[in-house]
Amino acid sequence: MSGSRSLFGGDERVPLRDRIRSRIHRWIVRAHRAAAFPATVLFILYDTDIHPSYGMTWRKKLTLARRMHRNTRRIRSLTSYKAHLAMAAKLLEISPEVEGVVVECGCYLGGSTANLSLACEIVSRELYVYDSFEGLPASDPRDKYGSEMTEGFLRADLERVKDNVRRFGAIERCTFVKGLFADTLPGHEPPIVLCFLDVDLQASLHDCIRNLWPKLTDRGYVFIDEYVYTDFCALFWSERYWREFFDADPPGLIGAGSGIAVGSYYLGPWSEIGVTPIQDPASVAYTRKDFSGFWNYYPDANVSEVRAVGSARELVQDPDQRTAEDESEDDAEREAAR
Ligand SMILES: C[S@@+](CC[C@H](N)C(=O)[O-])C[C@H]1O[C@@H](n2cnc3c(N)ncnc32)[C@H](O)[C@@H]1O
Repeated sequence: MSGSRSLFGGDERVPLRDRIRSRIHRWIVRAHRAAAFPATVLFILYDTDIHPSYGMTWRKKLTLARRMHRNTRRIRSLTSYKAHLAMAAKLLEISPEVEGVVVECGCYLGGSTANLSLACEIVSRELYVYDSFEGLPASDPRDKYGSEMTEGFLRADLERVKDNVRRFGAIERCTFVKGLFADTLPGHEPPIVLCFLDVDLQASLHDCIRNLWPKLTDRGYVFIDEYVYTDFCALFWSERYWREFFDADPPGLIGAGSGIAVGSYYLGPWSEIGVTPIQDPASVAYTRKDFSGFWNYYPDANVSEVRAVGSARELVQDPDQRTAEDESEDDAEREAAR
C-alpha cells in the first residue's frame, strides 16, 4: 500500500514546480525512514515474548531488519519493511512447538516474499506463496475496487519473482502456487500460523479469508495490507459476514484505518492522502484467530435479548454469583406471569 499511491496514475505532464515538490517530498520520506531505522528496529523487536529458542540477539535482529530494509529498495515492493518486520516479530513469538506454515497471498514482484522468507528461515517454517502471477484477475461487478482497468494490473511472472527471492531471500523455504485464489486456496492443507494478505480486491480478500481462516492455528495471525480502506477493514468487524461463513463472531482488526504503530506518520483517511503529502502509510493491520470484535453491551437489553442476537458468552450468568436482588426480580417476574 505504501508504494501503491501512484500506481493508478502516472505523472507525465505534471508541471516542473510540482515535480520538484514531489521529489522533495520523496526525499523527506526517505530521510525520515533512514533516520528512524534504529528506533524502528528497537521498538518493533524489543519484544520479551520472542521465543528464546530462536536465539535472537540484537545483532541478529539488526541484521534481519537491515536485509529487509535493503530488499524493499532492491525489489520494487508495495509494502514497507516496517510491515514485514512487524510480521516477523509476531512469528518470532510463536513457539517452535506450534506446527504450521506461513502463507502469503499476493506477492507481486516478491519484495514481501523475500522478506517473509528471511523470517521463515529463522523460525524454520515453510512459506506458501499464492498468486496468479498474471496480475489482478477480471473483476467481479460487485467488487468496489475492481474494474476493467484493474485486470492484469501488477503482473509479475513467476520466474521473475523466483529470481528475486533467490537473490535476496531464502527460496528454499518457499512453495509457489500459481493460479487464482478461488482455484488454489481450497487445496491448501497445512495449518497456518500467520498469513499476509495483500490482494487489492474485495473478492480476493473474501477468497482468502473464506479458505484460510479455518486452517489457522488457535492463535494464528492474519495480516492485511488494505488497512487504509475502512470498507476492507469492515470485513473483520462484520457480524453478518462471520455469522454467514463461519457461524462465529467477528474477530476485529488491530490497526484498522491507519495501521499498527510502526513509527510512521499517517493520519488518514486514505481519500485525503494528497493533503498530507509526506505522510507515509507504511504499516499493516492484523487480527488473530482468538480475538473478538463483537460488541455486546446494550444497557437497555436484558440478557436473553442479547443472547438471541449474538454469542454473548460473557452474559451467561453464573447461578452461584446471583445476588438476592436477582432472585427477588425473578420471583417478581414469575409472580407477574401467573
Ligand atoms: C498489491 S500486489 C502484492 C504486493 C506485494 N505484497 C508487495 O508487498 O510488493 C497484489 C497481488 O495480488 C495478486 N492477486 C490479487 N487477487 C488475486 C486473485 N484473486 N488470485 C490470484 N492472485 C491475485 C496480484 O496478482 C498481485 O500480484
